[in-house]
Amino acid sequence: MNTPVSPLGQALDRVDGKLKVTGQARYAGEYPEAGLLHGSVVSSTIARGRVTHIDITDALRVPGVVMVLDHKNRPKLASYDEDYEDADSADGSPFRPLYNDRVMYSGQPLALVVAETLELARYAGSLVRIEYRVEAHETDLLAAQGDSHAAPAELPKPRGNFQAEFAASALTVDAHYSTPVEHHNPMEPHASTVFYKDGGSLQIHDKTQGPQNCQDYLHKVFGIEKDKIQVLAAFVGGAFGSGLRPQYQLPLAVMAALELKRSVRVTLTRQQMFTFGYRPRTLQHLRLGAAANGRLMAVGHEALGQTSRFEDFTEHVVEWSGMLYQCDNVELSYKLAPLDVYTPLDMRAPGAALGLIGLECAMDELACALAMDPVQLRLINFAERNGNEDKPYSSKELRACYAEGAERFGWTRRNPEPRSMREGRQLIGWGMAGGVWEAMQMPASAKAHIDAHGKLTVSSATTDIGTGTYTVMTQIAAAAAGVSVDDTTFQLGDSSLPTAPLQGGSFTVSSVGTAVQQASKALREKLFEAASQVDPQFAEGRADQMTVAEGYVRLGEHQLALSEVLGGLPNGLQVQIDAEPDKKREAYSTATHSAVFVEVQVDEDLGSIRVSRVVSAVAAGRVVNPKMARSQILGGVVWGLGMALQEETQSDHNLGRFMNHSLAEYHIPVNADIGDIDVIFVEEDDDIVNALGSKGVGEIGIVGVAAAVANAVYHATGKRVRDFPVTLDKVL
Ligand code: MOS
Repeated sequence: MNTPVSPLGQALDRVDGKLKVTGQARYAGEYPEAGLLHGSVVSSTIARGRVTHIDITDALRVPGVVMVLDHKNRPKLASYDEDYEDADSADGSPFRPLYNDRVMYSGQPLALVVAETLELARYAGSLVRIEYRVEAHETDLLAAQGDSHAAPAELPKPRGNFQAEFAASALTVDAHYSTPVEHHNPMEPHASTVFYKDGGSLQIHDKTQGPQNCQDYLHKVFGIEKDKIQVLAAFVGGAFGSGLRPQYQLPLAVMAALELKRSVRVTLTRQQMFTFGYRPRTLQHLRLGAAANGRLMAVGHEALGQTSRFEDFTEHVVEWSGMLYQCDNVELSYKLAPLDVYTPLDMRAPGAALGLIGLECAMDELACALAMDPVQLRLINFAERNGNEDKPYSSKELRACYAEGAERFGWTRRNPEPRSMREGRQLIGWGMAGGVWEAMQMPASAKAHIDAHGKLTVSSATTDIGTGTYTVMTQIAAAAAGVSVDDTTFQLGDSSLPTAPLQGGSFTVSSVGTAVQQASKALREKLFEAASQVDPQFAEGRADQMTVAEGYVRLGEHQLALSEVLGGLPNGLQVQIDAEPDKKREAYSTATHSAVFVEVQVDEDLGSIRVSRVVSAVAAGRVVNPKMARSQILGGVVWGLGMALQEETQSDHNLGRFMNHSLAEYHIPVNADIGDIDVIFVEEDDDIVNALGSKGVGEIGIVGVAAAVANAVYHATGKRVRDFPVTLDKVL
């Protein structure tokens, strides 16, 4: 029998690649309709106070302007906080655009100008005059440190006796690190195109990571039945967490569409992309105590993050310090300080990307104090079990990450002495760090359908935010159904499809992939049963040996026309599956790991830093598509370099607003900043995490990178920079 190669594990090109490179892929703000109106948001210029007057006379006088909405004339909305909560809400009272006269942060939307063209709307927006009663604000985390409270998070309980062991340790590190505010800055700005249909139903193209989350939100906020709201997100131009929650352009566009009974689009400007969630600034205090042989005796990690006055944004910043290494005496604390700012938001590897900066820089400092190789220090303290949960890992090939990463990098040639390696006037630094992220799984559903020509269509209401979901789901479906990838189509980005969680948390392959696999497998079994009825010789084989191609089902020597198998089913065969995480996961901790090795070149006179080489070795279970997975790690590494050296949203605390709210002044790496990046996926077999054995790779790529860069800068220069980003003024 001619067994086709399983599409799982193949480096398939993106199935949506051609649509994207030929410009046929439409994004939320690109759907046309005759008569479509355009909304432009007018933002607050103060950080705190009340709106005393909004003068819209001049704006309304502009020909082509249809309406100006503000808190006084907006349509009636839900009046309870719960109605504004969504699948990624923080604790507290969610932001409601145009709710009342209160200004809670600089950049808050205070009015929406709706006009026949976007240009007219923006121009008219500039004519809206807003008067305020200004109140004193605080936007500086440093100044607000005293006003913090415990984050509403369940932290692992302290274990052992941190204070006593830290005090008694042969060697200690006691260091403070800080990280700045960062913004997601996806290429595609947030946009919602609301098509108002006859009968008042809404078809909405939204920039989101979860169409059903937006559908549910609109249902609650506006009291519209769900079957009258369809939210679509066929293509998303990057999100990184910025599309986890419905953003304010969505309710504003819907408000205008309902009020006018017309189709409306609201697109945020690049500057307005800095007027909602972001990665919060943190202050971290790390205390590590070790015995002379390098064994960790005490780990203490305290973090303070900023939040808004209306919600307590909470992420996992310090938990990693209780699990990445073996230690019996651990104390973790995580506090929040409310400021006059918008609520932070999950951003790629939320929490871990921050907490691992503190932990992995402190581990490097400890290695230096011990005069021990940093990889060796990590091996000595390798944790077989997750100390926070006291559970074994379903798999943890982190040792292989260290070994294969170090080998590829040439780590053994490192002279441990700072400032000992140079090329001309460039000081060379080699640094490393480890990374960790959760391998979660959420309930998800999928539907599989096959027609008489053998075309398989599988669907679920997830999204593809650039991660490759269209492609990997196509592979998973094809493999499970016994159909070629060419005959397989995966549909997503539509709230009317079977239930899927938000695309995020690196759990899409494990969650939606499991549902897709189960639905496709169930479809194959049904087809096998039907074939066995028609031809009893099929019944002698197994469903998983049967393939479908060219309009036939085949099993060994036997084949049957699909039309015959589907005889009584002119519409083809369909199966829907609701998949839950396997119970056997519960006895284990599940996580992805990485080891990152970095080479920097620091100009001795100028202090300029260039990252010439990165090796990232990742343990993430079985990789469904090495090409897509590598792209995820490449993107994460590049972002990590930005976190290390460039990214920082700077505030003018006198005005209480961000200053560099544009891509010209918010620095991220460009091609010329990026040297060689080598990605390794180590072998990791895991039959517990899910049937695919895949843990997800969306986030692990960024974790640890910034620490590895800072550690390399220390090795190059002998200068320890603990205030991120590591810019040349801090190095000199
Ligand atoms: Mo990710 S921050 O869960 O989109």
